[in-house]
Amino acid sequence: MSRRTAVANWKMNVPGEGIDAFCDALSAIGQAPQIIIAPPFVYLHDLYRNGRKGGWTLAGQNCSDKASGALTGEVSAAMLRDCGATHVIVGHSERRALFGEDDSLIGRKLQAAVDAGMTPLLCIGEDEQTREKGETATLLRRQITTAFAALRAIPAMLVAYEPVWAVGTGRNASPEMVRDTHGEIRRVLSESAGGHLPILYGGSVTAENAAGLAAVPEVSGFLVGGASLESSKFLQICQALG
Ligand code: PGA
Repeated sequence: MSRRTAVANWKMNVPGEGIDAFCDALSAIGQAPQIIIAPPFVYLHDLYRNGRKGGWTLAGQNCSDKASGALTGEVSAAMLRDCGATHVIVGHSERRALFGEDDSLIGRKLQAAVDAGMTPLLCIGEDEQTREKGETATLLRRQITTAFAALRAIPAMLVAYEPVWAVGTGRNASPEMVRDTHGEIRRVLSESAGGHLPILYGGSVTAENAAGLAAVPEVSGFLVGGASLESSKFLQICQALG
């Protein structure tokens, strides 16, 4: 299996222990998965400076679909790259639900990230009602194909399966559910020439459940929210991906 990936998505938070202490703890990790930290934009530079000793890479949590312009409050992918980020999260369920982002905007953001030389991380996932109606596979297919329709070619990128009902709720998907759903996603990606892309799981990953989820061969890594805000918990999750 190729090297797996652990992404720390801090959302609009910073670790209680402070960024420097978090970085010191993380840099002590030995053999590890690829670690990507996605802090609020304004802390990217702090993490970049610390990253020289730690060896992780950085991601933006979002980017504009435009390269520049009169767009107050927006940040372009090239600006994130200037701050030391190599990756950018696109289509997180909180962006979809709270900021009205739809699949075609998300597709344009993917292309903007690629145009700026960044590696996008596309988040997809179903809400609870969709799962109960048995329509998860259809929704995931639509999320992928609509976003990919905006791309000139499928780039090197990551996909994260994050069921909305599991994000920030303490209710993670079971390993069996993750195995089956990653299998569905893999089928759709293969049809769109993206069959080789890594698929991460996200949604209430913790130090306690990480080993069980990491045992699923279809899991290429984790996208971690709440549990990435404490270095000791995040380190245990990284070690589970080992
Ligand atoms: P969570 O968040 O780990 O707190 O559920 C995951 C995410 O939003 O990426």
